[in-house]
Amino acid sequence: MNDPIDATSPVPDGPGPAPSADAPTRPGALLHVDHVSKVYGSGHTAVTALDDATMAVDQGEFVALLGPSGSGKTTLISIIGGLLSATSGTVRIGDVDVTALSRRELTRFRAERVGFVFQSANLVPFLTARENLLYVATLVKTPKKAAQQRADQLLEELGLADRAKNLPEQLSGGERQRVAIGRALMNDPDLVLVDEPTAALDTALGRQVVQLLRREIKDRGKTGIMVTHDLRMVEYTDRVFEILDGHLTHVEEPSALKH
Ligand SMILES: Nc1ncnc2c1ncn2[C@@H]1O[C@H](COP(=O)(O)OP(=O)(O)OP(=O)(O)O)[C@@H](O)[C@H]1O
Ligand SMILES: [Mg+2]
Repeated sequence: MNDPIDATSPVPDGPGPAPSADAPTRPGALLHVDHVSKVYGSGHTAVTALDDATMAVDQGEFVALLGPSGSGKTTLISIIGGLLSATSGTVRIGDVDVTALSRRELTRFRAERVGFVFQSANLVPFLTARENLLYVATLVKTPKKAAQQRADQLLEELGLADRAKNLPEQLSGGERQRVAIGRALMNDPDLVLVDEPTAALDTALGRQVVQLLRREIKDRGKTGIMVTHDLRMVEYTDRVFEILDGHLTHVEEPSALKH
């Protein structure tokens, strides 16, 4: 089979004025994270996983969130996507204050506007690749025919048309990640959040998955945040944020990052 993945060249820098992590009202930004902290537990067992994080990401940008194990990456994107509540601070996506939504509103908001790709793909094991995509469409009540067309188109774009009827256990690691990308895009979200999509893949396959992710995000005008601890994946993104011990900074010169 021909490899459907093209080598989209990375864009050296995002549009607009000089980017700053500390820009809670950045014009044109889809996402604003404003002074967000997260403390797990309490008393002497309390862990500050995120300390006063502020960032803004533009509509159409694909940014990297880089940091070592335990630095707070998953915590941050879980708060951004409304899977976890912040201890303090606010997250806005478009004109919605995610941190102010009720549980019920959050469930709906997540299904409609946010797509997640988890580290371990997290597919439903007893559903085929195609059914994993169709399932999330039922959460937002997409008419069946439209959902089927969309699922088939995504599977085609992701090079999975001939794997549509396979269960996750009958797919390779890279194929599973591609199904997870399709699932994340299924409901046409504004924001795509990706947690270490390449952790279980070798470098070549990891690059393919990230290139594909970039292409889908750019072609569809989505905004994407990709968590990674792999510097080699950073080149496929527009801007880089670094997180160390819960402290978030914007990296002004990604080329200065050391391998
Ligand atoms: N539910 C929890 N309860 C207590 N501490 C937690 C919890 N979840 C995470 N932590 C702690 O918060 C810190 C940040 O965790 P997080 O999962 O955000 O890190 P990460 O950067 O995603 O790491 P990795 O690269 O290993 O996935 C770590 O010190 C971790 O031990
Ligand atoms: Mg993590």
